[in-house]
Amino acid sequence: IHNVIFESSNAGSIAVANEIATLIKEKQKNNKTFVLGLATGSSPIKVYDELIRLHEEESLSFKNVVTFNLDEYYQMDPDNYQSYYYFMHEYLFNHIDILPENVNIPKGNLTIEESAVFCNEYEEKIKNLGGIDFQLLGIGRTGHIGFNEPGSHFNSSTRMVTLDYITRADAASSFLGIDNVPKKAITMGISTIFDAKRIVLLAWGQNKSEIVKETIEGEITSKKPATYLQQHNATTIILDTEASSQLT
Ligand code: F6R
Repeated sequence: IHNVIFESSNAGSIAVANEIATLIKEKQKNNKTFVLGLATGSSPIKVYDELIRLHEEESLSFKNVVTFNLDEYYQMDPDNYQSYYYFMHEYLFNHIDILPENVNIPKGNLTIEESAVFCNEYEEKIKNLGGIDFQLLGIGRTGHIGFNEPGSHFNSSTRMVTLDYITRADAASSFLGIDNVPKKAITMGISTIFDAKRIVLLAWGQNKSEIVKETIEGEITSKKPATYLQQHNATTIILDTEASSQLT
């Protein structure tokens, strides 16, 4: 694991978007598919802004890109504006030339039984494409990546999980109160994320500085699932000055 500190989230986001663009273009040269794992939430928004700008102003194409999102709330309809489906279309997919059939987001509106089947198919689909080339991550104050909350096993795969109270509290404002925040979610597992060839985790602001310190300097523990990333050989943590402020 290694970390890079930028003076601002803007500068960090532009660097990450440039890495993604370079990797997409390398695959295009060889007529290959680029498998991109994506996150929602506030952290990646500027990366998506920059990818949109590269598409609009520098003709970056996403025609050879297949995306897999980390997670979705359960129960959640895709057309609900609080869904991650909605978020991704609003902040990225509606503004680039990705093929709709190449967009994969966990479904939050299935029955429990259907959902179990869906999760296995999600894993299969990723494997059949040769795995995720680049996975973008944010981090929750619980140490979650995706929605792998404390207690998540290293070997976990895509599945239904129960959200931590802190995670629901952090989402409360966008749901007009904690009571409206779903209690469950579908998330890629730790092993799904770990299989990615390249992982970039974004953390901005003072609010994240404590969990960033634990993630980078703490012992590896299921109590803080992000610490598992210490064992991944191609992970970079991108920070702004505030998020890095508690590092030794
Ligand atoms: C979202 C996700 C979560 C977020 C994390 C940080 O798809 O998987 O792990 O990345 O909760 O959220 P923000 O970026 O809003 O602070």
